[in-house]
Amino acid sequence: MYRRTVRYPVEHPDRIPKERYFDADFYQLEAEQLWPRVWQMACRLEEIPHPHDVVEYEILDQSVIVTRTEDMGVRAFENACRHRGVKLVDGRTTCESGFVCPFHGWCYGADGTNVKVTQSKTFAAHNLEPDEIDLRPVRCEIWGGCAWINLDPEAPPLRQSLEPIASILDAWQVESMRAEWWRAIRLPVNWKLAQEAFVEQYHVVETHPQLVISGRFPPRSGEFDPQTFVEAELRYLRTMNEGMAGMVHASDVGVAEQLRDIELAGDAATAMATWHTTLNDAVVKHHRDAGSAMPDLNDLEARGVNEPMGYCFPHYFVLPMYSSASSYRFRPLGPEETLMEIWSMARFPEGEEPEPPSPPIPIDCDDPGLPPIPTQDFSNLPRQQRGLHTRGFEYMRLSETAEGHISNYQRVIDRYLSGQTHDEILPTLAEVNVNPLERPIVGLDS
Ligand code: FES
Ligand SMILES: [Fe+2]
Repeated sequence: MYRRTVRYPVEHPDRIPKERYFDADFYQLEAEQLWPRVWQMACRLEEIPHPHDVVEYEILDQSVIVTRTEDMGVRAFENACRHRGVKLVDGRTTCESGFVCPFHGWCYGADGTNVKVTQSKTFAAHNLEPDEIDLRPVRCEIWGGCAWINLDPEAPPLRQSLEPIASILDAWQVESMRAEWWRAIRLPVNWKLAQEAFVEQYHVVETHPQLVISGRFPPRSGEFDPQTFVEAELRYLRTMNEGMAGMVHASDVGVAEQLRDIELAGDAATAMATWHTTLNDAVVKHHRDAGSAMPDLNDLEARGVNEPMGYCFPHYFVLPMYSSASSYRFRPLGPEETLMEIWSMARFPEGEEPEPPSPPIPIDCDDPGLPPIPTQDFSNLPRQQRGLHTRGFEYMRLSETAEGHISNYQRVIDRYLSGQTHDEILPTLAEVNVNPLERPIVGLDS
């Protein structure tokens, strides 16, 4: 098939050309060849809890209407009146009585069918062909507690496009979580740079020194002291709770505190394993006793799916920890501007779910109201975006083992940009829809 040449491709897997993060033509190529062809997280389902609830999802210059159907499915349309293109929905609404265009009053049913053309006799018949005056459908599917849209009718189904991480996050039962808070942050950096700040652990020692807590790992020399270990673990859990305003939920920290006096016998490895399995069981019991849906954490461990992070190409992350999770979404606002959203999610007994949080007003990345851990991550980003423009700086040089995900997903982007077919790209999605942490550079053969 026709192949486009991509300027600034990733030619050496461990080197990422700097222009990919600011070049206007590269950004434009992403707008034409990447974003219209990929599944995008359009909203959390609690934003549209009732039939006929409607939210608008915007990506670049495209706007999509996402609706709840009578049977609690989802349906989406392009957000443009078929007469002269006025956007029908701004933000949130209901389509209980369909959609009415505010300009000349054309009306559409909740299923998108045109039900009224005002003064229709003044139009030639060829401009009112029934199929052509209905709202244009957009593909929309549900997974992981969210509605997803894809502007490409040819794209493979959502679920197939998200494996293997979809199955892993299903085992975590992420769909049963609810958002406790939701923030939006405007970052003065490229969308890829923004998300790359969160896909490796290499930065933790320098950027988040408070997370480096001695005593959490077996001592290189000398005696292992179980009490020191437990105190270090508790401090880590508290720091993760405060640092992300709930990434480890306060209730789970409370459960852990009650295990403070646990007897840990044997060598370091046995003692640490006992602590982790006991804490897992206690957290599971706490939430199940309360009536919440909660996966068996030790079972996840045994099945090898106890991943602390899941990446969904190209712009959505879930980071589960014990009973809770953070999730992130990144959207480009310009070559060097990104809207990042964070949802902090937790588990609730059925019927006791909180009201969905209101759509956030975007704040700056140095807003004093942000939790300390993302504030530390954000403090590097504007400096990095500035530094990339330096004349003598050519490309990022990646660690093959610690920063492989950055290379992997950037090379998948190149496949979209060069015009590969979905069949050609699909196998490579399975290499990036994984836990990105500690992921090496992989071959993307096909
Ligand atoms: S633009 Fe919608 S009715 Fe005219
Ligand atoms: Fe970080």
